[in-house]
Amino acid sequence: MNIAIFGASGGSGKLLTERCLAAGYRVSALVRTPEKFAYADRVRIIKGSAFDAAPVAETLRGADAVFSALGAKSPFKKEDVLQRAIPLMVAAMQAHGPRRLIAVGSAGALGSSMDRQPAIGQWLVKKIVYKHLLKYPVEEQIAQYRDLSASDLDWTMVLPPVLVNLPGRGRYRIDGDSLPLFGALISRADVVDFMMKELVTPRWVRRGVYVTW
Ligand SMILES: NC(=O)c1ccc[n+]([C@@H]2O[C@H](COP(=O)([O-])OP(=O)(O)OC[C@H]3O[C@@H](n4cnc5c(N)ncnc54)[C@H](OP(=O)(O)O)[C@@H]3O)[C@@H](O)[C@H]2O)c1
Repeated sequence: MNIAIFGASGGSGKLLTERCLAAGYRVSALVRTPEKFAYADRVRIIKGSAFDAAPVAETLRGADAVFSALGAKSPFKKEDVLQRAIPLMVAAMQAHGPRRLIAVGSAGALGSSMDRQPAIGQWLVKKIVYKHLLKYPVEEQIAQYRDLSASDLDWTMVLPPVLVNLPGRGRYRIDGDSLPLFGALISRADVVDFMMKELVTPRWVRRGVYVTW
């Protein structure tokens, strides 16, 4: 398979790149600083920004499916990375393919994320974390969900809680409706594990899906 990866130099993106190469897939990656990208010798690199249509289209050329792990540098600044990049990716995919996109999102994208948590947890996360502390990342993810939902692509948006850089456990909870009880953390490795499985066997097409330890 030929896989296009956006955000390949980031925490989740590096793991996606590694897993795709280990699976024998050919990878095209859009990166802003190829000299800092450890897989540059094994990947078709497109140098550029996800805010520009031409490199986005070139990254997608020949791909069978797309992974996105794009995100802003700081959770405390308004960067609008997903607001700018996702519409370009969607437009290019709708025009020329491929149709399949699996994106790292965040539980904060949907109002239903906290429905199964105790009342105090719901209040804290919805009123303090989503509204104030993580206001900008949540806005990014709401926009990503809106733009994917409005497309006719075969998209899946993975909705994790807090991401950590611990080894994958290979066991995690998956739910289409809201975060499972006390689901507050998951490693990037396990999010990527879920995405690799979803690539081979699509189960959550045209919807968001919560994954958590
Ligand atoms: N941190 C958490 O706890 C958490 C929880 C839930 C969801 N999430 C979401 O999960 C996603 C992945 O997070 P992560 O921490 O694994 O990733 P990350 O390390 O923040 O990496 C973000 C990636 O996006 C790339 N990028 C940003 N703007 C770009 C642009 N204009 N053109 C090309 N590439 C661009 C970065 O490239 P450069 O290397 O060039 O900067 C980097 O590869 C994000 O959307 C994040 O909001 C995070």
